[in-house]
Amino acid sequence: MTVVSLQQVRKVYKSGALEFEALKGVSLEIRQGEMVALMGPSGSGKTTLMQIIGLLDRPTEGRYILAGRDVTTLTENERAEVRNQEIGFVFQAFHLLPRLSVLENVEVPLTYAGYGPQERRERALEVLQKVGLGNKLKNLPSQLSGGQKQRVAIARALTMRPSILLADEPTGNLDSKTAVEVMRLFQELNDEGTSVIIVTHEPDIAEYTGRIVRIRDGQIESDGPNPHRKRAVGGVA
Ligand SMILES: Nc1ncnc2c1ncn2[C@@H]1O[C@H](COP(=O)(O)OP(=O)(O)OP(=O)(O)O)[C@@H](O)[C@H]1O
Ligand SMILES: [Mg+2]
Repeated sequence: MTVVSLQQVRKVYKSGALEFEALKGVSLEIRQGEMVALMGPSGSGKTTLMQIIGLLDRPTEGRYILAGRDVTTLTENERAEVRNQEIGFVFQAFHLLPRLSVLENVEVPLTYAGYGPQERRERALEVLQKVGLGNKLKNLPSQLSGGQKQRVAIARALTMRPSILLADEPTGNLDSKTAVEVMRLFQELNDEGTSVIIVTHEPDIAEYTGRIVRIRDGQIESDGPNPHRKRAVGGVA
């Protein structure tokens, strides 16, 4: 099944009289269960594309079919609803709330979605155990290593059981060993059927995915399977 289908998507940013065409007619199909690296130089349009795929922004032109549904013309509220159900986000800078514990951070999306305290706790515990942080529930983000913070962020992205996980430079702030641990986690989630799209500058990181899409100046430059796909091994620290 195709989960993401972008058809001739253009994105023009306007500020006052200035216009900038960040995406110049991008067509892209991603199937359920794929793990894709999105690569390209700074300013090439990677984050713009991820924001459109993640329904945080909308195309200026073109169509977007998400899991068989045309989401191009949805209202803001409808888009937010689809986003909460289908998409999990992970960012380079973790974006954890500093005054909330690990457990409370992971509960945030569940609170927004209207779950009661009991189910929030159960689901948050389940995903935190999955990412290997069952022993850090009461810690504050400042008391964690970079890799642990990113695993909290991944757990938070998983609470709503999204069909697609979008990660924008998720290993950008991590040393290479910790980066591989994070990639191992993404591979495990992908093995369980979650589609994963990862923006990265690093060829070493892209090697852990099954398909590499390269973008340049707002256009797809190349797109193909990764013949050297590596398995990330090693325990979670
Ligand atoms: N809100 C905005 N208003 C105007 N221009 C923007 C805006 N957001 C991004 N751009 C421009 O669109 C282009 C693509 O930006 P984008 O953030 O998608 O690049 P990127 O590939 O993610 O780069 P990086 O690797 O540095 O994160 C850039 O030239 C950028 O300056
Ligand atoms: Mg970016």
